[in-house]
Amino acid sequence: MALKIGNTELAGLALLAPMAGAGDRAFREICAEFGAACTCSEMVSAKALEFSDKKTRELMELGEDARPAAIQIFGSEPAVMARAAQKAMEYSPNFIDINMGCPAPKITGPGGGSALMKTPGLCGEIVAAVAAAVPVPVTVKIRAGWDEASVNAVEVASVCEKAGAAAVAVHARTRSQMYAPPADWSIIKAVREAVKIPVIGNGDVTDAQSAALMLEQTGCDAVMVGRAALGNPWVFRQINAYLTGDCRIVPPPELYERMLVMVRHIDRMCRYKGEHRAMNEARKHVGWYLRGMRGAAEFRRRAGFLETRAQLDALVKDVIAAQAEEQAPQPEP
Ligand SMILES: Cc1cc2nc3c(=O)[nH]c(=O)nc-3n(C[C@H](O)[C@H](O)[C@H](O)COP(=O)(O)O)c2cc1C
Repeated sequence: MALKIGNTELAGLALLAPMAGAGDRAFREICAEFGAACTCSEMVSAKALEFSDKKTRELMELGEDARPAAIQIFGSEPAVMARAAQKAMEYSPNFIDINMGCPAPKITGPGGGSALMKTPGLCGEIVAAVAAAVPVPVTVKIRAGWDEASVNAVEVASVCEKAGAAAVAVHARTRSQMYAPPADWSIIKAVREAVKIPVIGNGDVTDAQSAALMLEQTGCDAVMVGRAALGNPWVFRQINAYLTGDCRIVPPPELYERMLVMVRHIDRMCRYKGEHRAMNEARKHVGWYLRGMRGAAEFRRRAGFLETRAQLDALVKDVIAAQAEEQAPQPEP
């Protein structure tokens, strides 16, 4: 069944997770092209929005190719968050998402991100203030809790629902677990059972089957995919085919399609950021696309030095040649 957040119907059950430093406009558009049902901006500082510098504005540019889309804001003061959400509306997001999950000390130190979960009342105040300030649905992204001694996702989700949140995404790890131990999906199930708004499960969805398993085990309404989409945006096509096509398994793309998508992705980065900055930021993406290929270690090392778009073409040529070598028939002994 299609998932609705507010009045917006999503065309699938796999959403792209917000990823600062990776989930820029170009990547979000590529993921949407492969069927991500919703995309989310990198987190944007509510405080920085007061000044609205160029970099902050760039984070909020959504384009039309990656919709529906959320702009995610972080901060800890209800009034500042409400003003930030209003500013974000200039970019016409379909949703405003509130970051209650970021574990980075520079975010939690001043009380933002996952530190909000230590004071559920404040979470509610922020949601209420933001929901009153903008005409679009407000969603929240939380973790299981701050640490193992304070797993309170159910309480926080309930408070946010009462305050007007239209959906909640649950990253099934505590703040102190960061990104490492396997996510404990039981917390997603507990939240699903506690609230009426859509619950989006997140944490360790790596492919179509794990997406299906999370949906089955937790009853969540949709899944959110982060790291597994890096260098692998077709994961959304695979998940959609599996969930809607009677468990149809779509194999990963062949070499040429992988290279094609990578080049298209990096070209978009160049268009939006200019070649110099884009190629610098593209290094990590290229590394992700090359994972698991023959000669990957050396090619990824080379990717780390990319400076021009022309160097990417040369790299692609060599990658293709190396894979062809592997496939060439071996001489008879
Ligand atoms: C590089 C990176 C950047 C991230 N940035 C954000 C962010 O800006 N906002 C947010 O809510 N979560 C952020 N996250 C967390 C992801 O959205 C997601 O919750 C987490 O990676 C777990 O999902 P996964 O197992 O599918 O990767 C980030 C994760 C990574 C790996």
